[in-house]
Amino acid sequence: MTDSVQVSGYQLVQKIGEGGMATVYLAVQESLDREVALKIMSPALAANESFREQFMKEGRIAAKLTHPHLMTVHDIGSDKGVYYLASEYLPAGTLRDRMQRLNVAEVLEIVRDIASGLSYAHEMGFVHRDVKPGNIMFRSNGSAVLADFGIAKAIKSVSAATMAGNAIGTPDYMSPEQAQATPVDGRSDLYSLGAVLFECLTGHKPYEAGDAYAVALMHVTEPVPKLPDKLAWLQPLIDKSMAKQPADRFATGDAFVAELDRLLAANPQMNAALRESRSARRRAVATNIGTSSAATAGSGRKWVFAGGGVAVVVVLAAASWVAWRGKAAAPAAPVATSAPIEAAPAIAPPPLENLSANASLARLDLATLLSRGNDYFAYGQKNGGEKMSFPPGDNAIDLFREALKRDPGNAQATQGLQRIAAFYANGAQSALKNGLYTGADVLVESGLRADPKNAALLQLKAQLAKAEGGG
Ligand SMILES: Nc1ncnc2c1ncn2[C@@H]1O[C@H](COP(=O)(O)OP(=O)(O)OP(=O)(O)O)[C@@H](O)[C@H]1O
Ligand SMILES: [Mg+2]
Repeated sequence: MTDSVQVSGYQLVQKIGEGGMATVYLAVQESLDREVALKIMSPALAANESFREQFMKEGRIAAKLTHPHLMTVHDIGSDKGVYYLASEYLPAGTLRDRMQRLNVAEVLEIVRDIASGLSYAHEMGFVHRDVKPGNIMFRSNGSAVLADFGIAKAIKSVSAATMAGNAIGTPDYMSPEQAQATPVDGRSDLYSLGAVLFECLTGHKPYEAGDAYAVALMHVTEPVPKLPDKLAWLQPLIDKSMAKQPADRFATGDAFVAELDRLLAANPQMNAALRESRSARRRAVATNIGTSSAATAGSGRKWVFAGGGVAVVVVLAAASWVAWRGKAAAPAAPVATSAPIEAAPAIAPPPLENLSANASLARLDLATLLSRGNDYFAYGQKNGGEKMSFPPGDNAIDLFREALKRDPGNAQATQGLQRIAAFYANGAQSALKNGLYTGADVLVESGLRADPKNAALLQLKAQLAKAEGGG
């Protein structure tokens, strides 16, 4: 049951969970003969020196935090290269497991618990950085606790190269400043808590898109999501916790709780429901112990990149990528129109009429195809590749290709395509340099559409394949 893992001083009883970076066991701490959750960090992390340092340092910090709504850390250490953290065993599962079954009153009580725990930790000077449903767990008395203080920071310290190919976390609850890899404080955690609250209330994540990068970008650019009408009375809580600018958010977890209480006071019915749920939840959880700690790796998307939130940023800053992602990668979600984005370039209206129907492309004569291709190239350089490689049927690649169909070997068209390939090779190069493997992949593919033989792109492609294969 316990594979071959051994940690002296602990008797491993049973594996109870697995995350991207660790395996969690129910264990008995022999000296005190008490049950603990023993989290064993993955060997890939343990092999990394900066992780080991940060893990021990952050673990010591986490152990100093004592609050009814923070997971209690008992011990942290290493034994024959195995890095572990022993904490209180939380037998009643995670918020991720039970999210679907909660009513509004129960949800509000949980976020209230967590906000108060965050308030305390922030006052002590600590930021969690990974507030998400999988890290909100329950004691047998039903109270919610936040797990894994300090771990996110330790993981973040690990270099891009080490983490290539490892799935580490989700952007679903990531604050805009995390997505941009700018410094975070407690208000970032409150943003994440707002995102968790939103999901609990609506059953879906605040931002959904085809891939992790698009989701991270949406946290920066998209308007704060709206609750359905019948929950509109809670919208102020979402608006204020998920404000794009930290300065517009709650300054503390206590302020979050105060606003929640204010809204509840204005909704006496809900207030009563909350009081009722408090006792009901405790009863339900007490009879539910042990039903939900199956080894789920979490249903949230795992994404591959390096260094926690760091990576996304560079991409966000790279103008070429921002608009590209926004326009092309998230068809399900409307592109940012209103919220300001600091790192993004200004996107001017596209030149000329839309050519999307292939028929209209065919209508243009050769000279127009070429001159418009050049215009589109210039436009795309400033607008994240828009009109250069997308939208389909109305972009420089398609125009130059059409020109080559009519006049094989046309020098202007050939050069045009080569310049596009070079543009993408540049972008991919800098993405790769910053450990942005997915972003680099996407850029390489775009570039190869323009020029499948471009040497720089082919080399990048090989490099990426190696990085993804080798870890
Ligand atoms: N103290 C604990 N008591 C009981 N079960 C736990 C405890 N800590 C973690 N678990 C279980 O182990 C699982 C894995 O936890 P872990 O923190 O490694 O990953 P995660 O937070 O779910 O996801 P990620 O790796 O993305 O952070 C949890 O989902 C939970 O089911
Ligand atoms: Mg966790």
